[in-house]
Amino acid sequence: MKLVERVLRVPLLAKLAGANILIVLAALVGVAIERRVSFSSNVVPILGIALAASLVVNLVLVYVALRPLSDLERTATHLAAGDMEARVPDSILADRDMARVGTMLNDLLDRLTEDRARERRLAAQVISAQDEERARVARELHDSTAQILTAVMLQLGAAAHESTSPALDARIVTLRELASEALEEVRSLSHTMHPRVLDDLGLAPALEWLARQTQAQEPLDVQVVAAEFDPPIPAPPAAALYRVAQEALRNAARHAQASHVDVSLRRDGRSAVLEIVDDGRGFDVERAEARRPGMGLFSMRERVGLVNGRLTVSSAPGRGTQIVAIVPLTN
Ligand SMILES: Nc1ncnc2c1ncn2[C@@H]1O[C@H](COP(=O)(O)OP(=O)(O)OP(=O)(O)O)[C@@H](O)[C@H]1O
Ligand SMILES: [Mg+2]
Repeated sequence: MKLVERVLRVPLLAKLAGANILIVLAALVGVAIERRVSFSSNVVPILGIALAASLVVNLVLVYVALRPLSDLERTATHLAAGDMEARVPDSILADRDMARVGTMLNDLLDRLTEDRARERRLAAQVISAQDEERARVARELHDSTAQILTAVMLQLGAAAHESTSPALDARIVTLRELASEALEEVRSLSHTMHPRVLDDLGLAPALEWLARQTQAQEPLDVQVVAAEFDPPIPAPPAAALYRVAQEALRNAARHAQASHVDVSLRRDGRSAVLEIVDDGRGFDVERAEARRPGMGLFSMRERVGLVNGRLTVSSAPGRGTQIVAIVPLTN
């Protein structure tokens, strides 16, 4: 078996030369025998057979040796269709140099897959570190800064009570209004960084809150149609969908010059589907993702990928933008 394998592994050129030498030798032996046996020189049929045998052997050897080319082509087609698991199959009959190309391609693909996995792990770490930091700052703002501002308002209320001067009263009223505004801003900032309503009430109310907030800050009309889920969407996919909606609304406000955005959340079998559609100016998605001017689209994709979901961004200049995130509710 070892010998057969070694013979099959010799380069195509050596195989062809070897096979042809064998055929020529066999023909010469045949001619010599023919001469001895019949004393005639009827060698034409023997040479004809030898030539035909040579042709067949050459054709078979070239066909078998070049077969890996179609394996390479098939693998490339699978890769182009997005199947990154595709590999060139190992063939004992393949020409050595051709087989080397296949092995090299497989090695490259393995390295690429490894790099992609590393990049995804890194992105997951960055996203979760970012989330933790945001949650910490949000807690701090809510529990500490907002509490201090509430205390300031109470003190100002007491001071207004004790004051006997109308001029001081007017000042205190202004101060209370400013403190109240600051309190509102701190609460809103804390909420934007980490929406507690998502933890406490679930995704649908959180999306409605987000829509109200966006409408208050931007010249955008946002409509939300969100189904209630029973049991509720688990926290990781709910957080991923919330962040997708947040980024999509931010992009609609910043880049799209949109006037209307529809946000819908529905169940589809065992998945939750979030769709955000704006009527803005649209953009070339492929170009934007290749240029990657910001982190928004990339981190949307990563977040949804991390909970085993799929994100589709459909848009074209002058056509508005549709973003669909589908996440499985069970793993
Ligand atoms: N809804 C949209 N309408 C029109 N253009 C958009 C829309 N969403 C994204 N884009 C385009 O795609 C680009 C990439 O968006 P992405 O969210 O990744 O980055 P960004 O918004 O520029 O920065 P970041 O999100 O990091 O603050 C944007 O710069 C913008 O040109
Ligand atoms: Mg963005």
